[in-house]
Amino acid sequence: MGKDTILNILILGMDGYIGWSLALHLAEKGNRVTGIDNFSRRRTVEEIGSWSATPIHSMEKRMQVAKANYQERIRFHEGDLVDYKFVSDVIKSCKPDAIVHLGEQPSAPYSMIDVAHAVYTQQNNVIGNLNLLFAMRNFSPDAHLVKLGTMGEYGTPPLDIPEGFFEVEYNGRRANMMFPRQPGSFYHASKVHDTFNIMLACRIWGLRSTDIMQGVVYGTRTNEINLSENPDLCTRFDFDEIFGTAINRYTAESVIGHSLTVYGKGGQTRGFLALVDSIQCLTLICENPPAKGEYRVFNQIDEVYNVTELAEIVAKVGRRNGLAVEVAHVPNPRHEAENHHYKVEARHLRNLGFKPTRSLEQEVGLMLEDLTPFKDRIKEKEQVIDPKTTWSNGQSLEEGIQNYSIRQNTRTTS
Ligand SMILES: NC(=O)c1ccc[n+]([C@@H]2O[C@H](COP(=O)([O-])OP(=O)(O)OC[C@H]3O[C@@H](n4cnc5c(N)ncnc54)[C@H](O)[C@@H]3O)[C@@H](O)[C@H]2O)c1
Repeated sequence: MGKDTILNILILGMDGYIGWSLALHLAEKGNRVTGIDNFSRRRTVEEIGSWSATPIHSMEKRMQVAKANYQERIRFHEGDLVDYKFVSDVIKSCKPDAIVHLGEQPSAPYSMIDVAHAVYTQQNNVIGNLNLLFAMRNFSPDAHLVKLGTMGEYGTPPLDIPEGFFEVEYNGRRANMMFPRQPGSFYHASKVHDTFNIMLACRIWGLRSTDIMQGVVYGTRTNEINLSENPDLCTRFDFDEIFGTAINRYTAESVIGHSLTVYGKGGQTRGFLALVDSIQCLTLICENPPAKGEYRVFNQIDEVYNVTELAEIVAKVGRRNGLAVEVAHVPNPRHEAENHHYKVEARHLRNLGFKPTRSLEQEVGLMLEDLTPFKDRIKEKEQVIDPKTTWSNGQSLEEGIQNYSIRQNTRTTS
């Protein structure tokens, strides 16, 4: 299999930030793409009082526009991964070569709101992934599972972070073992549960998988998405405290003159990569599957920064573009180290040919250009930017139980 092979690719979570961008890119390359989504991201963003800065179309309209370019090479089915019958039916009809699993609740703060949101996140993510593994075992055992995990599975250990496994010596014996996972939220913990379930499925059933520890993704553009040329194809872009990740939030703050919200001391260091490069990496991974029975881990990042450095870069580019940008340190709502060692190995993707498309400064410049026309939409939701969701919110047990039952009822009736 190589870059010229046409693949049948199933994308779980195709309505999302990365999923929609990936679907367009894979179809553009000539692959046959089938997507599924239950639109939960649209509902959760609405629930917290926000919206995408870029006005995204309904899936019906998205498909009309995409089919004009790609005809039957792109298809969509609405459904929930937590429904095993739905997952098996899609896999039976699609017969995928690769399944890119992006269909999970992706926000750490959302999972920390209260017991209802933590339970929802883990049920949605862990059960959806488990359904997928069983459906693959039963109906598509040779397909390649490309699973989106997160660099946050490792936490911030005082050791360098290898790609999934490392050699360890204990009591005079050496072995290659899984590198410890230290999740920092119930969302991150859901990803660690997925990791264990996927490893097990590869070992006992001979499935093949690439488990991707992805860094934080930022950007508005890909090769197929350019807001000034084809606004109908744009992907979502969130900037609120729950779904807005560091660089995306900073750029949205810059265009409305809101101080850039650096949490705490701002020494929190993470791996980042642009949306266009996340898509590039996922495509390379689909084109280069592991052997049957192989479970492999790729760290998918471009560069490492701390969140103050990032805010300063965004402020510098913003000022160069005539914006009045200030950086502010706000109380950190999270329970995390604010100064720590962080060194990540990320060789596998570069060995497959990954080359970053643009520098961070260039990408931020394009983001500011793309977001400026939507300044009023961002301004209208300015109240959702500052962090209010803390890792210990002081909710009483009674409140937690009440919220939990409300959420369970909502799930069964919607
Ligand atoms: N964006 C990032 O910075 C980032 C970083 C690391 C890892 N990831 C991971 O990458 C994946 C995609 O991230 P994203 O930013 O595109 O998120 P997203 O929320 O925009 O996309 C996920 C999509 O999956 C759908 N979905 C969720 N649960 C589902 C279910 N049970 N059934 C069907 N569809 C379901 C949502 O409606 C959404 O459209 C996620 O798994 C996320 O955890 C993202």
